[in-house]
Amino acid sequence: MKITCITGSPNKNGTSSLLAYHFIQGAIDKGHKVFRFDAAFKNVHPCIGCLKCKRGENECIFKDDMFELYPKLLESDVICYSTPLYYHTYTAQLKAVIDRYYAKDKFLKETLKRTILLVSAANPNDWVTHGIVSTYETTLKYLKWEDAGKILAINCETTDDIKKTCFLQQAYNMGYNLG
Ligand SMILES: Cc1cc2nc3c(=O)[nH]c(=O)nc-3n(C[C@H](O)[C@H](O)[C@H](O)COP(=O)(O)O)c2cc1C
Repeated sequence: MKITCITGSPNKNGTSSLLAYHFIQGAIDKGHKVFRFDAAFKNVHPCIGCLKCKRGENECIFKDDMFELYPKLLESDVICYSTPLYYHTYTAQLKAVIDRYYAKDKFLKETLKRTILLVSAANPNDWVTHGIVSTYETTLKYLKWEDAGKILAINCETTDDIKKTCFLQQAYNMGYNLG
């Protein structure tokens, strides 16, 4: 299977990057092909709502690193998001990528994709992830995609915290067990 993993953290070696790493390792060990896109280290202009993409050829006016991602998204069977929780949702860097789906959502809706959500968060209460989960599931419904699993790594502010939990093993297993 073809998998795209989009990360949202500006920390290259942080908690959510570790989740992504373990997920990807599991998927590769099972023989899947994975493309990783680190949104915070790419040039992705935020959508400006000009709607030129809706009037023309489904092309965004910003010719940036999204043009590396678009073909990978379109051909992927599974899309994995890995992000720290920033004020109860995705980081701005990951949200900018998802907003830019708008130019291609006609095509993205045409094929069923399965998605995975990996989140790390400092707060120990499970209600902190309600916002991101609700946004994620609403977008899936809109795109007619399916959830293939979530890891909500609460109480993990630092990599020392997450290494003491079973979330990294769960991320590996999730990648490995994708069928
Ligand atoms: C700007 C900012 C906003 C944050 N907002 C939240 C939040 O709403 N809830 C929470 O539990 N943790 C919040 N955190 C903590 C991070 O989600 C947490 O430390 C995470 O493990 C960092 O992931 P990373 O190492 O992959 O960057 C926030 C951190 C930052 C820098």
